[in-house]
Amino acid sequence: MDAITLLLTRRSCAALQAPAPEGEALEVILKAALRVPDFQELRPYQFIIAKGEGLERLGAMMERAAIASGQSEDIVKRAPKMPLRAPLVIVVVAKARDSVVVHPLEQQMTAGCAVMAMQMAAFAQGFGGIWRSGWAMFDRTLHAELNLAERDQIVGFLYLGTPVTSPTLADDGDPSVYVNYL
Ligand SMILES: Cc1cc2nc3c(=O)[nH]c(=O)nc-3n(C[C@H](O)[C@H](O)[C@H](O)COP(=O)(O)O)c2cc1C
Repeated sequence: MDAITLLLTRRSCAALQAPAPEGEALEVILKAALRVPDFQELRPYQFIIAKGEGLERLGAMMERAAIASGQSEDIVKRAPKMPLRAPLVIVVVAKARDSVVVHPLEQQMTAGCAVMAMQMAAFAQGFGGIWRSGWAMFDRTLHAELNLAERDQIVGFLYLGTPVTSPTLADDGDPSVYVNYL
């Protein structure tokens, strides 16, 4: 797949099944994350991979976090099953480094770019994925469960696997609607 085709046809996929990317394919995905724009090469990210029993462990962490932060009964009930929606989940964490030059927001954007790069690397290799967030992304109990520091910020849960059905092309409309020239 050439680069422009990838950029113009990338789709998210919520219905995911095994197999998940592993071995060389997963390595390519992680290398793509490390290739995103990164001001002063601060490497302001961490990738926490959950698969197999790790998905259950992540679900248990989400359940404890949901209870601790007083989420609704429905959310608490659904929490342990959330990561089981794909055979692989990568929790992408922005770890803003000390810098007088690079603002923490810039470093968080680098981590966000890593989510996108990994999704595209998965898509280009025939896998599917979806970038998810929700209450858990902002929940400090979940951050603590994952041994993250106070200044760390989860920027996404990237669910990866094999698409259950082939993605359809999106109709993104006319870019000029969002553009103006000075
Ligand atoms: C930061 C961020 C968080 C998102 N969180 C969710 C989410 O929690 N649940 C969800 O269904 N989609 C979420 N999305 C949207 C999907 O990742 C996806 O972009 C959307 O379903 C549109 O599909 P497409 O990427 O094929 O256009 C999020 C997107 C971004 C950028």
